[in-house]
Amino acid sequence: MITENSPIGVFDSGVGGISVLRALRETLPKENFLFFGDSQNAPYGEKSPAQIRELADHSLRFLRERGAKAVIIACNTATSAAADYLRKKYPEMILIGMEPAIKPAALAIRNGAKPCVLVMATPATIRGERLHHLLSRYHEDADYRLLPAPKIVRFVEAGQEQSDALRDYLRDILSPYRSIDDTTPPALKLDSIVLGCTHFPFIRQQLRECIGYPVAFFDGARGTARETLHRLAERKLLRETAAPGSIALFSSSGSTALMERLLQLPIE
Ligand code: DGL
Repeated sequence: MITENSPIGVFDSGVGGISVLRALRETLPKENFLFFGDSQNAPYGEKSPAQIRELADHSLRFLRERGAKAVIIACNTATSAAADYLRKKYPEMILIGMEPAIKPAALAIRNGAKPCVLVMATPATIRGERLHHLLSRYHEDADYRLLPAPKIVRFVEAGQEQSDALRDYLRDILSPYRSIDDTTPPALKLDSIVLGCTHFPFIRQQLRECIGYPVAFFDGARGTARETLHRLAERKLLRETAAPGSIALFSSSGSTALMERLLQLPIE
């Protein structure tokens, strides 16, 4: 039976969802969390919508069988391909998805001019209808550039977010937006970057260094945590206790060592 003491389930294609779990833990410190990372099958962003739906369904069932009172899809790619399908299949569940943080980036205060916003995400999210629907709602507020960045997920999953190979890859894909030195302005100057994949907040500093001038970053972790708080409060399912909550980590790859390390990193 689901009660206020039941855990909150969180899943991702791998370790990226840990960036969301950090925000959930901060916003809901009394809750118990179960986190499932499907690292064995990552990256989802290079798979078809049907494959992503099947994998997301498997992850959701893993958490549901362990009594989750709500499930957070801590993955933009799985939300894009599978959230509607899962909501239909499990209508009784509180299911919270994630979308790239287009709205806060579009509406950020500027000096009159439209901001130039780079939306970075997996190829599946960039292709997905959901993102284009979202962009059409805010198309008058900003100029958008879309950048699929599939390899970042692979670097983060390998624990290589500090590697020179990742820096080279970022230099390559971000070349039109980089300022190499004070005398060479970028071909296109950005105001902000939307981190539209939950693996990307772990390389925020590397992105900042690569761009070479100040940009604002937006991701959906804190918004998702607030939405979770709101949805549980509405259903009177918030855990009321003096004791702090717990976190249990599960990985389809067998090892949770990388998740544990990433969970210790402070939120920037
Ligand atoms: N972390 C996921 C996202 O937010 C997906 C990464 C992947 O497996 O490609 O999109």
